[in-house]
Amino acid sequence: MPDGQAFLEVKDLKIHFPTDDGVVRSVDGLTFKLERGKTLGIVGESGSGKSVTSLGIRGIYNHRNSKISGEIWLDGKEIVSASQDDVRKLRGNQMAMIFQDPLSAMHPYYTVGHQIVEAYRVHHNVSKKVARKHAVDMLGRVGIPQPDRRVDDYPHQFSGGMRQRAMIAMALVNDPQLLIADEPTTALDVTVQAQIMDLMHDLQAEFNSALIVITHDLGVVAELADDVLVMYGGRCIEYASAATIFERPEHPYTWGLLGSMPRMDRPVQERLVPIAGSPPSLINLPKGCAFSPRCVYEERTGGLGTTVAPELTRAGGTNHLVRCHLPTEERQRLWVEEVKPKLEA
Ligand SMILES: Nc1ncnc2c1ncn2[C@@H]1O[C@H](COP(=O)(O)OP(=O)(O)OP(=O)(O)O)[C@@H](O)[C@H]1O
Ligand code: SF4
Ligand SMILES: [Mg+2]
Repeated sequence: MPDGQAFLEVKDLKIHFPTDDGVVRSVDGLTFKLERGKTLGIVGESGSGKSVTSLGIRGIYNHRNSKISGEIWLDGKEIVSASQDDVRKLRGNQMAMIFQDPLSAMHPYYTVGHQIVEAYRVHHNVSKKVARKHAVDMLGRVGIPQPDRRVDDYPHQFSGGMRQRAMIAMALVNDPQLLIADEPTTALDVTVQAQIMDLMHDLQAEFNSALIVITHDLGVVAELADDVLVMYGGRCIEYASAATIFERPEHPYTWGLLGSMPRMDRPVQERLVPIAGSPPSLINLPKGCAFSPRCVYEERTGGLGTTVAPELTRAGGTNHLVRCHLPTEERQRLWVEEVKPKLEA
């Protein structure tokens, strides 16, 4: 790859869908990078463009009835302009995906073992016996008890958490360099969620893959991510190291996400304080700042918030980008004096 280029580099990615009601701007100018061995969390509410971003990286929208532009470099190869054949190869050899619903990725009529064996044999010229041994090993590695017996179970014989582990085994069987997990734990209870995230973290370290974790819940990436990109209305509104996002976030929307994070130290009913209002239409984003109809600090920008779209600009820390008209000093002061004390109360 060219000097200085990251393992995965996304530049000004736009994915638009023309519809009868207008153009849906699902992803509108996204830029980020990720190295092998590192984890990026992409966080935002429903409909903010997270899954479309991940499918774009997988080349799903190339040559379709959608408009994709910008650049996606994976290990020195560009995906947006690549042929369908090249994209298919890249997807098979270098990327794997973990979904929210393992049943959607697994065939109900074949045993779990059979599916892992087949996934392995697509890329490895080995006998079924050798592949089966590998499948049993992988199931053991992801924490399935008695893997030599469970390998012959069908997906419905596994619990939700075990199915998720089996899907991780299937995703990792070909040693992918880029692993994308889209809401991997949403359907699971909190304890199992934590176990699955720990497992992904351990396996990632072992395989040295680049990992993208997509979630609406900042809590899921708190322990795991090196960097966090917060999306709102198809755009990045804050992008920084995870430490920065959790210790000195500067965007009012990120503050809202932090406030709506489930907390282990509270009873379930006290945990969630959703952000008031609803996500914007991606056909007609609100004028000015897309978050302005929901932002309690809007009047502090002297009318700018509802008239001029803010750019993504450098904030307080190094490599900290924020899309908000408020001066960085004011955001930092608001965080320290008003927002953080409220979240900790
Ligand atoms: N093929 C398509 N045609 C038109 N609009 C689409 C298409 N695919 C996605 N969209 C729209 O793009 C927007 C972003 O969708 P996306 O699935 O990326 O959201 P998300 O952030 O993953 O949300 P969730 O948290 O609910 O999974 C949505 O408004 C969706 O309706
Ligand atoms: S630009 Fe204004 S409306 Fe938008 S997030 Fe910042 S303060 Fe709120
Ligand atoms: Mg999604």
